[in-house]
Amino acid sequence: AATGVTVSKIGGRIGARIDGVRLSGDLSPETVATIRAAILEHKVVFFRGQNHLDDEAQIAFAELLGPLTTAHPTVNTGSARVLALAANKGMAANSWHTDVTFVDRIPAFSVLRGVAIPAYGGTTNWANTVTAYETLPDALKALVDNLWATHTNDYDYAAQSEKAEIEHDQDNVFTRREFTRILFQTEHPVVRVHPETGERSLVLGHFVKSFVGLNTAESHALFQLLQARVTKLENTVRWTWAEGDVAIWDNRATQHYAVADFDEQYREVRRITVAGDVPVSIAG
Ligand code: SIN
Repeated sequence: AATGVTVSKIGGRIGARIDGVRLSGDLSPETVATIRAAILEHKVVFFRGQNHLDDEAQIAFAELLGPLTTAHPTVNTGSARVLALAANKGMAANSWHTDVTFVDRIPAFSVLRGVAIPAYGGTTNWANTVTAYETLPDALKALVDNLWATHTNDYDYAAQSEKAEIEHDQDNVFTRREFTRILFQTEHPVVRVHPETGERSLVLGHFVKSFVGLNTAESHALFQLLQARVTKLENTVRWTWAEGDVAIWDNRATQHYAVADFDEQYREVRRITVAGDVPVSIAG
């Protein structure tokens, strides 16, 4: 690790806390390499006490991990980079998903900053989709290795947007209110080979509509079976936010779930997404 930086596991299969870093766009190449290696190994990493960050500094840091995407394909954000996820009546992200799997190039990393954190509730959980694959019995691996799934945003935040009532009209910042209903649909392999680690992971989550070659009932049954493997509690880590916390996850190796248990309290987190690749199957 870079000098003064410590990486400590916080779960058996997923999650680590990184201490000794003040996040900014000016980090040394050694520190960036340490952070990137920790994300790839632990799938999600957490930093406390980054209260100095504003949107610009969060962007400058995130750019050290790679080129950014626009805030969200179905939010009318123009060239904006920051997606404000703000709510005070529960959250629409309270089901297990990988961000934006309904486009061809699934984002590589997400950088999420806690801005307004309720006094109770509002934790976020992450699951490791690599260990979920690795611990499948061989017969199930054989089943999924050559399977493809159709992902769509037909089930999307937009469908539940009446839950999000937060006004937040700063420049270049958008809230759930502005999610639009542009329909995306694409196919991905159920098992992808990670472009950096070579690990195999399950590409599932709530944007999966069906599996190619299976009917709706069959797709549902298989999806439930596989998702239960991903989201088994031993395969997850739960983070209790404080303002100024930053979470960074490998979107190619995780799913996450924001728990909607904070009643009427205001909660705001701000997300920046680093661009990724088209998932590659085992067959190449
Ligand atoms: C998300 O990126 O899905 C939001 C996670 C959160 O609100 O904690």
